[in-house]
Amino acid sequence: MTRDWLRWHDEYEVPGSSLARRLEVVRGHLRPLLDRPRRVISMCAGDGRDVLPLLPDGSRAVLVEADPVLAQRARDAAGDGVTVLTGDAGTTDPYAAVAPAEVLLACGVFGNIPYEDTRRTIASLPSLLAPGGTVIWTRAGDSDVRELFGLNGFDELAFVAPADARFRVGVHRLSREPDPYASGVRLFRFVDV
Ligand SMILES: C[S@@+](CC[C@H](N)C(=O)[O-])C[C@H]1O[C@@H](n2cnc3c(N)ncnc32)[C@H](O)[C@@H]1O
Repeated sequence: MTRDWLRWHDEYEVPGSSLARRLEVVRGHLRPLLDRPRRVISMCAGDGRDVLPLLPDGSRAVLVEADPVLAQRARDAAGDGVTVLTGDAGTTDPYAAVAPAEVLLACGVFGNIPYEDTRRTIASLPSLLAPGGTVIWTRAGDSDVRELFGLNGFDELAFVAPADARFRVGVHRLSREPDPYASGVRLFRFVDV
């Protein structure tokens, strides 16, 4: 059975819920990164509520979301310079127009894909990022996502792990030279639950 991602988003509307709190943490770290027009990628973007309200005029962003209803909501909320693609975020292809990005969001991705895909995705992120590009990611529960970023040339800028919630939010900046963009690279596939 495929998960109902539309319904999953309902928790955002519940004040004080884990997802509502997570959103504030993500936005809190995103805001200073969007202090001027940026090139932005959001993988598995949902309805884009984390990034779209914060995006400065003049930015260019690509949001990729498989669910057509969520993608349309993102499109309806998007301003100029934002492309919302309804499709598979799990290859490098949809990012060709915006890479190298200065900010990349991978929120709600690593908890839904196999470990090997997480490893491969993080190893590929330097090919989607500009020098010093920053990734904001989330993951429920403990994992070795942080270590994987460290192994791939990223510095940890922040890691938020509330004692009373399962969500984790990480912020990692690329501290080595980026890799060249390559099309057609498979990053991940969601596990159906
Ligand atoms: C956990 S939600 C996170 C949504 C959003 N990033 C957020 O944090 O609010 C995962 C999202 O990934 C989408 N999704 C699943 N597989 C995908 C794929 N292969 N390509 C693009 N989106 C996908 C789902 O439809 C869902 O909206």
